[in-house]
Amino acid sequence: MPYKNPQISIILPTYNESQNIIGLLKSIHENIPKEVATETIVVDDNSPDGTGKIVEEYVTNFKKIAANTIDIIHRKTKNGLSSAILHGIQNAKGDMIVVMDSDFSHPPQIIPKMIDALKQYQCDLVVCSRYIAGGSIQGWTVKRRLISKVATLIATKGLKVKTKDPMSGFFAFKKNIIKGLNFDALGYKFLLELLVKTKEINVREIPYTFEDRKSGSSKLDGSTMIEYLRAVWKLYKNEKIKTTDERRMSVRFISKAARFFTVGASGFVVNYLVSLLFSSGLADFWYVHANIIGIIASISTNFFLNKVWTFEDRDFSRKRTLSQYGKFGLFSSLGATAQLLTVFWLVDSHNVSYPLALILAITTAAFSNFMLNKKLTFKEKLWS
Ligand code: GDD
Ligand code: MN
Repeated sequence: MPYKNPQISIILPTYNESQNIIGLLKSIHENIPKEVATETIVVDDNSPDGTGKIVEEYVTNFKKIAANTIDIIHRKTKNGLSSAILHGIQNAKGDMIVVMDSDFSHPPQIIPKMIDALKQYQCDLVVCSRYIAGGSIQGWTVKRRLISKVATLIATKGLKVKTKDPMSGFFAFKKNIIKGLNFDALGYKFLLELLVKTKEINVREIPYTFEDRKSGSSKLDGSTMIEYLRAVWKLYKNEKIKTTDERRMSVRFISKAARFFTVGASGFVVNYLVSLLFSSGLADFWYVHANIIGIIASISTNFFLNKVWTFEDRDFSRKRTLSQYGKFGLFSSLGATAQLLTVFWLVDSHNVSYPLALILAITTAAFSNFMLNKKLTFKEKLWS
């Protein structure tokens, strides 16, 4: 049989699912479309009821009869649902990952719909949802429903998650969306962490009916709920730090750019006044010479103001200041030349009107001047 990379990896976390897992593996096998290569990864936490061993035996026989593969990962201790899911994902070879419970609460009949959604639409993540039209829950007590509702509310309001069922344990995604992300994998809610840490992805929800397990028992208890609150709090804190940091950074950047442009405008005034002054009564220079003096004067005042005010650099040691002054002067002349060429190019070969060409050229030159000086003259990071 030729080796074929799986397209889909299905992650099945198990803890004491001996009565469910084999039936589920069979049902998944019957339900996935024949043309997609699939690997199924069971992540077992050394279940006392022997789930791991049962799967192991099944896998040995299964490999002989089918093209799709089943693997089992044995972990030594019960480490929590999220961490089991993460462990499975890290070992997955498929481009698309499906995550589901192993107790038949998540009907395998939905899997083809999830795969279709991931393939056909602009879609990175599919969430099987109990809380949209067409979805529902069967077999839960009022208490369990209430807990789920409250937990969902905490997530949607507290973490500003838009998905209607961020607590779902039944979802699928393109593996590339988690590139470079680090997961805490605390507690039960892997999906919630995924939703919070991946902001710009396309999410689709498809409805399904959650059926409470027929065999075995739920592992969700009081400590799971406390763990949940801790996980939410951690996500919340991280997000807050990140957004205030980003905000601070962009405010700093914009205010520096604004100061740089203000200084530029002041240079215009200095240039104009000095040029006039030196060609009139006071010095009576030839106007070209007077203008050269004006230009040098404005570059100098611009440099001084940008050093002290825009970039808040108060270090006036001679070597440093001279080298900065040299670079600043160089970038100013480069900017002027670039501006001239741009105006010429826009007006001459693109029929742009002169005033518009001026505006475009001046802003481009001023902005690139700002960036060049920020980085090379005053040695700052570009975007801070
Ligand atoms: N490996 C491993 N390790 N698997 C675990 C662990 C663990 O520590 N804890 C639970 N599992 C497995 C179970 O064997 C089952 O396959 C799946 O994770 C879900 O566990 P249940 O105990 O059946 O959870 P539940 O039915 O109460 O909760 C489900 O519904 C919630 C919806 O409100 C889960 O899908 C939750 O993720 C979901 O939020
Ligand atoms: Mn369950």
